[in-house]
Amino acid sequence: MIPRIYIPGDSGALALGAEKVAKAIAGELAERGIEAKIVRNGSRGAYFLEPMVEVATANGRVAYGPVKPSDVKSLFDGGFLTGGHHKRWLGSPDKIPFFAKQTRLTFARCGVTDPLSLESYKKHGGLNGLTNALALTPADIVAQVTESGLRGRGGAGFPTGIKWKTVLDTAGDRKYIVCNADEGDSGTFADRMIMEGDPFVLIEGMTIAGIATGATKGFVYVRSEYPHAVAVMNKAVEVARKAGVLGASVLGSPYAFDMEIRVGAGAYVCGEETALLDSLEGKRGMVRAKPPLPAHKGLFGKPTVINNVISLASVPVIMDKGAAYYKDFGMGRSRGTIPIQIAGNVKYAGLFEAAFGMTLGEIVDEIGGGTATGRPVKAVQVGGPLGAYFPRALVDTPFDYEAFAAKDGLIGHAGIVVFDDTADMLKQARFAMEFCAIESCGKCTPCRIGSTRGVETIDRIVAGIEPEKNLALVTDLCNTMKFGSLCALGGFTPYPVMSSITHFPDDFKPAPVRVAAE
Ligand SMILES: Cc1cc2nc3c(=O)[nH]c(=O)nc-3n(C[C@H](O)[C@H](O)[C@H](O)COP(=O)(O)O)c2cc1C
Ligand code: SF4
Repeated sequence: MIPRIYIPGDSGALALGAEKVAKAIAGELAERGIEAKIVRNGSRGAYFLEPMVEVATANGRVAYGPVKPSDVKSLFDGGFLTGGHHKRWLGSPDKIPFFAKQTRLTFARCGVTDPLSLESYKKHGGLNGLTNALALTPADIVAQVTESGLRGRGGAGFPTGIKWKTVLDTAGDRKYIVCNADEGDSGTFADRMIMEGDPFVLIEGMTIAGIATGATKGFVYVRSEYPHAVAVMNKAVEVARKAGVLGASVLGSPYAFDMEIRVGAGAYVCGEETALLDSLEGKRGMVRAKPPLPAHKGLFGKPTVINNVISLASVPVIMDKGAAYYKDFGMGRSRGTIPIQIAGNVKYAGLFEAAFGMTLGEIVDEIGGGTATGRPVKAVQVGGPLGAYFPRALVDTPFDYEAFAAKDGLIGHAGIVVFDDTADMLKQARFAMEFCAIESCGKCTPCRIGSTRGVETIDRIVAGIEPEKNLALVTDLCNTMKFGSLCALGGFTPYPVMSSITHFPDDFKPAPVRVAAE
C-alpha cells in the first residue's frame, strides 16, 4: 500500500504555513522517488499544533506538529512515513491530551477524513443519519430532534425541534432551509472548520431538515471572509448532487432536496436571522420586526427554517445514534455537546468539543493552559462581541445556557476570548458601544443613537468629566438599549458594557494618570 500523508488544507492551518509544508513534502517525495498519497484534510482544531501532519501507519495514524518546511528533510530522514521519531513527533492523535479529553460527536470526522471524498465520509459513518431519517415520517424526524434536546448553536439556544415543527405545520407551496454560516462572533471558527473539514455533514443535516419540514431548497449563507469554506462547500454540493444525495430523489427516495452556497455581505448584523434573509433576497441587510417568524414567513415570504451550521451539522449524529444517545451528554437543559472555541490570549487555542457542563475555569486554565503571555487571566468574554466579560470570581460557572444566563452572561456560539491583566475593561466597554454603533442596521433608535451616545459618555469618563454622573448615565443607557432594542445587537451590547462596570469597577475609577497617559 502506498503511504498516506494528511496535511490540513483548512484556512487556519494554511495561515500557519500548511501550504509551504505541503509543497516541501511533495518536493521531498519527488526527490527521493517515493510514491505517496497526500490528502488535504481539515484541521482537528488544535491550532497550537498546526500545521499538524499525520501519516497512516500499520499501527494507526501518527501525528507531527507544528511542522515547518525546514523540518521536512529531517522528517523523511527519521522515517516519518512509518511513524519514526522526530522532535515534532506527537504520537497517535487520539492520545494527544487536547483530543483525548474531547467528546467528538459533531466534529467526529473533522480533520480525520478527506473533506471532499464521499467514500471517506461514508466509511466514517456518514449518511447513516439521512438513511435512518428516510425510513421515518417527517413528524417522527422532528420528534427525534426535539427529543434529543438540541438547541440552536448560533446564539439564542432555541430548541431546534420546535423550530422545525413550526415549519412542518405551516402550509406553503415552497419552503426553505437556510443555514446561517455568517459566523461573525469574535473568536469563533467552528462553522468554518466544519465547512472546510467535513462539508458533507452540513449537507446531510440540511437535507434531513428539508425532509423533516417539507422544504426542497436550501441556502448556505457564508461570510465573505471565508473563501476557502465557500470553495469547499461548492465542490461538496457538486459531489453530493452527482452521487444522488442531493437532487430530485434524495438517495433514491421520493424526497427532493437541493442547495446553493451564497456569499454574505460583510456585515455583523447580516448574521441576525431576519437581516440575513433580507441579504439573501438581494436587499440591504435590515432586521425585520417579528412577528411574522421566519418559520411562518421567511425567505421570499415562505416558511423557512434558519439554523446555524453547528445546529444542522449535529443532526446527522442524532439521527444515526438516536435522540437518547445525544441527550445523555450534557447538563440541565443544555443537552449534547458543544464545540468550544478557545481564543484570544491563551496558550492552547483551538476547538474543543465537549458535553455541556465543564466549568469556565477548566476550559481556560486546564484546556487552554492559561494565557499565552504567562500573565494572570483577568477576564474571559464568552459568546462573541455581545457576551459578558467574566472575571476570575466566576470561573466556576458551568458551560450551560441557564448557568451563564443566571450570571448575566451568555454562551452564544461558544467562542471564548481570554484577556490577561493588562486588559483595560473601560476600553473594552467603549469598544462594545463602538462596535454596536458601527454595526447597527439603524432600524431602531435605542441601538442606532444609544450606542453612539454610549461611546461619547464613556469618553467623558475617560477624560475624567463627572465620572460618577456619566457612569450612571451609561447604566441608564444600557437599560434603554437592553429593553428597547428590536434585536440582540442593541439588546445585548449592554452585557459586555455592564459586566465590565460590575466586575472591574477599578478600571472605571477616575484616573488622572490614565488621562495624562493618553
Ligand atoms: C447581531 C446578530 C448577529 C448574529 N450572528 C449570527 C451568526 O453569525 N451566526 C449564527 O448562526 N447566528 C447568528 N445570530 C443568531 C441568529 O439570529 C439566529 O438566532 C440563528 O441563526 C438561529 O439558528 P440556531 O437556532 O440554529 O442557533 C446573530 C444574531 C444577532 C442578533
Ligand atoms: S437593535 Fe440595532 S441592529 Fe437590531 S434592529 Fe435595532 S438598530 Fe438594527
